[in-house]
Amino acid sequence: MAFTRQSRTHDPIVAESPVPTPGESDSFLWLLVASDEEAVRELVRTEATRVGVHVRAAPNASQALGLLDRQPIDLLVIDLATPSFHGVEFVKRMREEHPEITIAVITDFGHDDAAREALAAGAAESVSRPFEEADLRAKLDRLARTLALDRENRVLREQLGSRPGFGLMVGVSPRMQEVYRRIEKAARSLSPVLILGETGTGKELVARSIHFHGPRKNAPFVPVDCTGLVSTLVESELFGYVKGAFTGALQSKRGLIEAASGGTLFLDEVGELPMEMQAKLLRVLQEREVRPVGATTTASVDLRVVAATNRDLQREVERGSFRQDLFYRLNVVPIRLPPLRERKSDIPLMANHFLERLAGDGRSAAVFSEDAIQRLVSYDWPGNVRELENAVARALALNSGPLLHIGDLPTNLQAPAAARLPLDEDQITLAELERRAIFRALRKTRGDKVAAARLLGIGKTTLYRKLKEYGELGADAEPEHSLPAPSPAP
Ligand SMILES: Nc1ncnc2c1ncn2[C@@H]1O[C@H](COP(=O)(O)OP(=O)(O)OP(=O)(O)O)[C@@H](O)[C@H]1O
Ligand SMILES: [Mg+2]
Repeated sequence: MAFTRQSRTHDPIVAESPVPTPGESDSFLWLLVASDEEAVRELVRTEATRVGVHVRAAPNASQALGLLDRQPIDLLVIDLATPSFHGVEFVKRMREEHPEITIAVITDFGHDDAAREALAAGAAESVSRPFEEADLRAKLDRLARTLALDRENRVLREQLGSRPGFGLMVGVSPRMQEVYRRIEKAARSLSPVLILGETGTGKELVARSIHFHGPRKNAPFVPVDCTGLVSTLVESELFGYVKGAFTGALQSKRGLIEAASGGTLFLDEVGELPMEMQAKLLRVLQEREVRPVGATTTASVDLRVVAATNRDLQREVERGSFRQDLFYRLNVVPIRLPPLRERKSDIPLMANHFLERLAGDGRSAAVFSEDAIQRLVSYDWPGNVRELENAVARALALNSGPLLHIGDLPTNLQAPAAARLPLDEDQITLAELERRAIFRALRKTRGDKVAAARLLGIGKTTLYRKLKEYGELGADAEPEHSLPAPSPAP
């Protein structure tokens, strides 16, 4: 089975044994096993092939180096017991000469020091001899998945250049491209913008993007959270006050509106603004001047106003809780941010972006497993991007290894997506197609799993494993016709 750039499958359901076609072979993952022991080379070859990796083998250092010169290798498995490698020296040399190659080492049982030294020198994994086949396969599988994901991300980044989105915003879906076009257009003018969208969709980021792409990018961007304004203080906060205007006003203070003069005033959650403040704000926008509390004169202000709300302001207007004249003044250029469930194709990119950002150094040591990515994509995200960001942070905090699994995700994401809405046709993944094929077969056979497996052309065990992954079977469920349990050792 192959790890291709476009798709990677890992299960016999979709393709039994891929034959690399010319020109396509560079999209496969290649492993080089270097060992003087034929049995070791064969075992690694068998297990690696099972997890979809293509294998080359070399019995000594000089042949290994020759091969490395001729062909790109993704994963190098070095048997440290082979004399020509001089132990960990070869690992160090490879790290220097081929830093792009992931290295795994094979050590003899009990040689923990050698394994530790190799890991310290930059090997990603160690396997000890005598081999547990399952352990070897699991480790190769993990490395291969990580490599495939890395490669996918790299390809994605190369395709997108340094801007997989717009300004601070990540996402390249058609819906977001439309948003970016509107931001760019809005940024060029000074017309008021009203950003509409559910909670967590990125309204504040849009507001900042408008400011920082416009002619006023060097002037202040002043956010005002209209929900956070204590109603008795709203006026003085927004408009400022003069000394002695009220008890405690020991000094004159500029309000937020004046502070934003020359730049952008961002009225966040403007739908929460109390009625009497709406009237006063309207006056500021119309007259372009503020009068601080207690002042007898006004100060002129030059404002670019961007407002945001997760409410349906039009309806608030109809209900009489939001002033129609203010609504018209704010809603000159509306920008509607789609909820995350309507731009699911951006989820993998965003999830990886958050991983890298949370890792701090711009390069995350952890990646999501394919299953986890599928789960992220199939979930509906009522809390939108903010919820996704939190889920990634949680997975990163809880994970035990470099690969983040479904089990690392918040519990509400761990339930399978069986009952959820189908994805758009163009967003269907191989895994989703497979899942649908399985459930269709089960419906056809009225739940007879053995018959369904036959219909699908796969083994019962594979079907059971898949169903377990989907959460359709308990973790301990066994095929009805599984192999007899091994008899106890004599
Ligand atoms: N396209 C995006 N790319 C990267 N990060 C994003 C994107 N959209 C939103 N975020 C992140 O998601 C979080 C929520 O975004 P933001 O605060 O802008 O949303 P909001 O619509 O203002 O939410 P709320 O209604 O809860 O105030 C922030 O941490 C933000 O950085
Ligand atoms: Mg907000």
